[in-house]
Amino acid sequence: MTDLASVDYFSDPAIAQDPYEYLDYLRSRNPVFREPHHGVVVVTGYREAIEVFRNSDDFSACVSVSGPFPPLPFQPEGKDISAQIEAHRPQFRISEHMVTMDPPEHTRTRALLARLLTPKRLKENEEFMWDQADRQLDEFLANGRCEFLGQYAKPFATLVIADLLGVPDGDRDEFRARLAGQTTPGSIEGSMYQDAPGTNPLEWLDDTFSAYISDRRKKPRNDILGILASTLYPDGSEPSVIELVRPATFLFAAGQETVTKLLSAAVRVLAEQPEYQRILREDRSLIAGFMEESLRIESPTKVDFRLARTHTTVGGVDVPAGTVVMLCIGAANRDPRKFEDPDDFQLYRRNAREHIAFGRGIHTCAGAPLARVEGQVTLNRLLDRVIDITIDETFHGPAGDRSYQYEPTFLLRGLRELHIAFSA
Ligand code: HEM
Repeated sequence: MTDLASVDYFSDPAIAQDPYEYLDYLRSRNPVFREPHHGVVVVTGYREAIEVFRNSDDFSACVSVSGPFPPLPFQPEGKDISAQIEAHRPQFRISEHMVTMDPPEHTRTRALLARLLTPKRLKENEEFMWDQADRQLDEFLANGRCEFLGQYAKPFATLVIADLLGVPDGDRDEFRARLAGQTTPGSIEGSMYQDAPGTNPLEWLDDTFSAYISDRRKKPRNDILGILASTLYPDGSEPSVIELVRPATFLFAAGQETVTKLLSAAVRVLAEQPEYQRILREDRSLIAGFMEESLRIESPTKVDFRLARTHTTVGGVDVPAGTVVMLCIGAANRDPRKFEDPDDFQLYRRNAREHIAFGRGIHTCAGAPLARVEGQVTLNRLLDRVIDITIDETFHGPAGDRSYQYEPTFLLRGLRELHIAFSA
């Protein structure tokens, strides 16, 4: 049996496979608890996580995806390290993307997204999703089985964002192929965090999108990239090409792994508990709640990070300036003080939608409406087109003795593969 007190969350392979018992243990010590290996303050309580998410005065997002790796590029001094953060900002991982920015830079950059994610654009994108779901299913339906992540969820998520951003049809296959080969962020095997600080894993996307935008600035076109090319900041000034490209490319990074993980978690529940297939097929309005409960019980963004910029407190615990705080979204969404019997999947859970799988505060997920629709379209189409969805025992073993492999990352929570069988 694992000695939970000695676990290093960031490198223990068994904890990456099943983090919940360990995170429950930490919560039982205190919902805000300093772990001994890296000095990270771990927040497993729902209320306390929201408190930090909403407090962008005392907490910087500069470490939001990297946490304690690599260590801070400076030695924190005094009770307010805001000036030190600003002086070293380019040294933080993906500092060029909005998820690590703080106001006022964050406010300016996030405003650019408003032109991209309009209700009209999302509606058109939803129409594309219905078609794409069918096309994706057509590729394997006749086989009666599939590996759901590789054959459906990953290509679906990539092509949906490619469509949202108006990537020309002819380039979409290349996007699908290149993005399929990306490494998972936060790998406990270290691949992501052994890169030199300041490297940008999305560089090729930057180059591709820069070409699209520059082209449209020279020859205006009335497509989504054309709209983006002519977008101004709220104060009327014109963003540089790269300032426009970054929010667009970040959508690719933010919206694929997470959506893939959500879709596979939801389909796994459907296949493991077949009674839900009948219930949802008969009453499609329940699918939205089914997706919310899937987000709660297997939150794709398992943890998120902040850096205390001032000497402050969380849930009554002292947090000195310079402390890395880990917001355990997956654990907060299983906090028994908020969610009754939190480890049970309950379709009719009254407060499921209060989960924080999309974060809270100024960085709340910009793609949440999109992710929700992707989930609903996928489940609807699956239920329309196949019956008797089951787990493929050849790969995952018989009921009662299943084996599932999760991505070995401290950041995200999701299956590596999901093999299902069905009748068309
Ligand atoms: C199930 C799917 C998804 C989950 C669980 C998820 C989760 C999150 C979380 C927790 C954050 C907050 C990060 C922080 O506060 O540090 C976030 C931010 C963000 N997400 Fe998502 N996301 C999902 C899908 C998407 C999609 C589909 C897109 C876009 C196409 C997207 C775009 C973004 C962007 C742009 C941000 C940064 C917002 C900011 O910094 O202001 N996400 N997401």
